[in-house]
Amino acid sequence: MLFVPGDQARMIEKAGSLPADALILDLEDGVAAKDKPHARVTVRNALTARVLGDCSVWLRPNALMTGLLEDDLLACVLPGLTGIVLPKTRVAADVALVDGVLRALERARALSTPLLLALLIETPQAVLNANEIPHASARTAALLFGADDLAAEAGLTRTERNEEVQAARAHIALAAHARGCQAIDLVYAKVRDLEGLTRECREGKALGYTGKQVIHPDQLEPVHAIFSPSQDEIAWAHRIVDAYRAAPRGALVVDGRMVDAPIVRQAERVLQLAARIEAQDGARRP
Ligand code: COA
Ligand code: MG
Repeated sequence: MLFVPGDQARMIEKAGSLPADALILDLEDGVAAKDKPHARVTVRNALTARVLGDCSVWLRPNALMTGLLEDDLLACVLPGLTGIVLPKTRVAADVALVDGVLRALERARALSTPLLLALLIETPQAVLNANEIPHASARTAALLFGADDLAAEAGLTRTERNEEVQAARAHIALAAHARGCQAIDLVYAKVRDLEGLTRECREGKALGYTGKQVIHPDQLEPVHAIFSPSQDEIAWAHRIVDAYRAAPRGALVVDGRMVDAPIVRQAERVLQLAARIEAQDGARRP
């Protein structure tokens, strides 16, 4: 999911041709306070002109407590929008309230597809309430981990290896899976350090994250490379599934390792994801 500052018309135009799975048109922290009115108009124009390609397009309005969220939604909830990335969620009631506002807007604007919600979990309250928050709306499609806001509010000292946020990071991924939605990992802020980005992607994937928030076009390729199953992983998954189907026993040995039902489920998950990515890439190819 690529953040694009809502006041940057040039970046928004460029974003439509980038291989992102999702764009987040940002009205919140990626836009200075003085530029927010202009950003609303810029985002509105981009959505109206439908210049954003065939990836999913999300809007990040300002947080509920700013008093700006309603006007952000009034200006920018338009056909073509996939959903809302809700920042600084604190409790389930925040999500229920926004769900109701979206329902009213969908009705007023005769939007045919319900808007989805991606919830940024980036306050201490939200981390502690992460097992309830995603259930407050049927629209919830993803939880996004926001490490820097969490650090700001909880007085954490950020480090390259993320030790100080590791407990929250793992908890949020589990909360997403308990809800059956996507888990989208933190932003890697060093835009020129693709090695560091790759390492952080590997760690996130191992924790169960299914994707990553990114802020620069150069970050897309390394993120896709890690979060898509590799040829080796696909070959491993085929060996497991094929062996299990050929001799369906409680446990068998493949590549010198014991394989039982949970390993087969892991392998099936890899194959399902690979098939979905292939179908999506196929659909995008001209
Ligand atoms: N979306 C779309 N295009 C982007 C982009 C983004 N997030 N970030 C950079 N680009 C484009 C630039 O416009 C430039 O295009 P051009 O050469 O065709 O004009 C190209 O990619 C290269 O950009 P670069 O010069 O390397 O970036 P920069 O050094 O000027 O800016 C950032 C770096 C981090 C400030 C910038 O990438 C950015 O603003 N990212 C988003 C940050 C954000 O949204 N933060 C809040 C959420 S955490
Ligand atoms: Mg934030």
